[in-house]
Amino acid sequence: MARFIVTAAWPYVNYIPHLGTIIHLISADIYARYLRLRGHEVISVTGSDEHGTPIELEARKRGVSPRELTDAVHSRDVELFKEYGIEFSNYTRTESPIHKEFVRGFMLKLYENGYIFEQDEVLPYCERDMIFLPDRFVEGTCPYCGYERARGDQCDECGRLLHPTELINPRCALCGAKPVFKLTKHWYLDLSRVRDRLLEWLKSNEELQDNVREYSLNWVTQGLKARSVTRDTMWGIEAPFPGSEGKTIYVWFDALLGYISATKEYLESIGRGGEWVDWWMKGDVKTVYFIGKDNIPFHSIIFPAMLIATGEPYVLPWRISATEYLLYEGRHFSKSRRIGIWIDEALEIAPGEYWRWILVRLRPELRDQNFTWSEFYRIVNSELGDDIGNYVHRVLTLAERAGGRIPRPDNLGSREMEVLEEAKRIASKAVEAYDSIRLKQATEYILELARLGNRYLNEREPWNLLRKEPGEALKVLWVSLTIVKLIAHLIAPVMPRTAERIWSMLGLKGSVLEKIWDKELFEAVEFTVTRSEPLFHKLPQDFLERIDHIVEEARARAAAKRPKVIAD
Ligand code: MF3
Ligand code: ZN
Repeated sequence: MARFIVTAAWPYVNYIPHLGTIIHLISADIYARYLRLRGHEVISVTGSDEHGTPIELEARKRGVSPRELTDAVHSRDVELFKEYGIEFSNYTRTESPIHKEFVRGFMLKLYENGYIFEQDEVLPYCERDMIFLPDRFVEGTCPYCGYERARGDQCDECGRLLHPTELINPRCALCGAKPVFKLTKHWYLDLSRVRDRLLEWLKSNEELQDNVREYSLNWVTQGLKARSVTRDTMWGIEAPFPGSEGKTIYVWFDALLGYISATKEYLESIGRGGEWVDWWMKGDVKTVYFIGKDNIPFHSIIFPAMLIATGEPYVLPWRISATEYLLYEGRHFSKSRRIGIWIDEALEIAPGEYWRWILVRLRPELRDQNFTWSEFYRIVNSELGDDIGNYVHRVLTLAERAGGRIPRPDNLGSREMEVLEEAKRIASKAVEAYDSIRLKQATEYILELARLGNRYLNEREPWNLLRKEPGEALKVLWVSLTIVKLIAHLIAPVMPRTAERIWSMLGLKGSVLEKIWDKELFEAVEFTVTRSEPLFHKLPQDFLERIDHIVEEARARAAAKRPKVIAD
């Protein structure tokens, strides 16, 4: 038994998240559930990323205060995540007082350790809006890839971190004006001073994905420039350095520390406040981060650099599970161009539980992955409906017809033994896949189990055996039910509600969400089937023909439930 901290990138609350964003939360939720089912102790944390220019920009556009915007979206997000069965130990927000105090203390510590220096800098300033234009307040052409809508801090196309003065043809994101350049003072984190320790970690941590390691090593060897940790904006956490009044902390240096402050907040809430240091500094705890590829440099360079610069024994990231992008019908999700589907709209089309399965099946683990409605249709009707749903329903109905009570047989024929062995082999592979966070692969093995079960039923025809050889029929049913039980265990991280329903229909005691796999996964049990309900509803046959209309209606229904501040 080990200890884990499982986290996902903190969603910005400038708008409702879209399907691509929720993949990280669902993945973290699944992995945390998996680890608990293996008997590990897990704290899972994340929350709303409330500061920074993404929020301020949206609030200005909508004529509300940033806090009004984040209050409204945060509470809607929390409701929606519940519908998706996402349960973190602590889902908090960066406006939380514990977080703000933690960030100020942490940054001051870096300052005291001599890692932070101040320097004057010339930065874009909009004379019309009378504000400096950091990060998303300024847009222009990326000097590396030529993308025309790069922002002051990062290019969404090539993923490079940028400095606002690097942008070609810069313009103010609020009014479109060409900025002037003005002198201002900022505080910087001297990344070069942690170079050796960072390199050592990047090279020695065997758990890092190849793309994360390569990207980061490349960055470090090209030279680590100091990065500014302050901003000339009103909205954010006040910078704590001597003479830094009126400046705020750059949103990334704030949000990343949320991983730690949210752990602290959680432990305090359960009366174990003193333990956070033990979780983050004792060295045995494994930390896992679920993020999108655009967040890689922050998690593999900036965050570890900050931790190293404290001089305290913080645990550096163990795994960073970074996915590629989910595309919507071949294009990037875009709020401004209205491309994609948002998580409240998605719920108007299918239950959150289904989406968990669908999004894992489409998790962009190796390359960008296209979401299409025809894939959606196939996954729901053929994978959930035919493969899993139909198998479970067939077996349970037959078991009911055989009287419901299906005892564990004293001896099994060789074909039965063979099928059981095969099922165990597939189940072990699923466990391995979960363990190495190949979540899509894990679901592939669950499907394989259901297909094995379906084939076996067709081969042994227990409905005929029930008349001719009832003893034999009971054995076949027991083997089939054992496969259903394996499916219930293994599907629990992805579809906890479905797993619970299967478990209760099997007449098994307690909750499948509490059955530790190492003890119970292969345990041979007696079943008492009392009912058999279909697990899933299939989509109607004309679903794809009517999809435009269905999406339009879903959008309208979701919009009616949105908080006023983001009603379009
Ligand atoms: N809000 C950021 C985004 O959507 C992610 C922040 S992750 C954190 O890209 F670790 F910094 F919180
Ligand atoms: Zn402007």
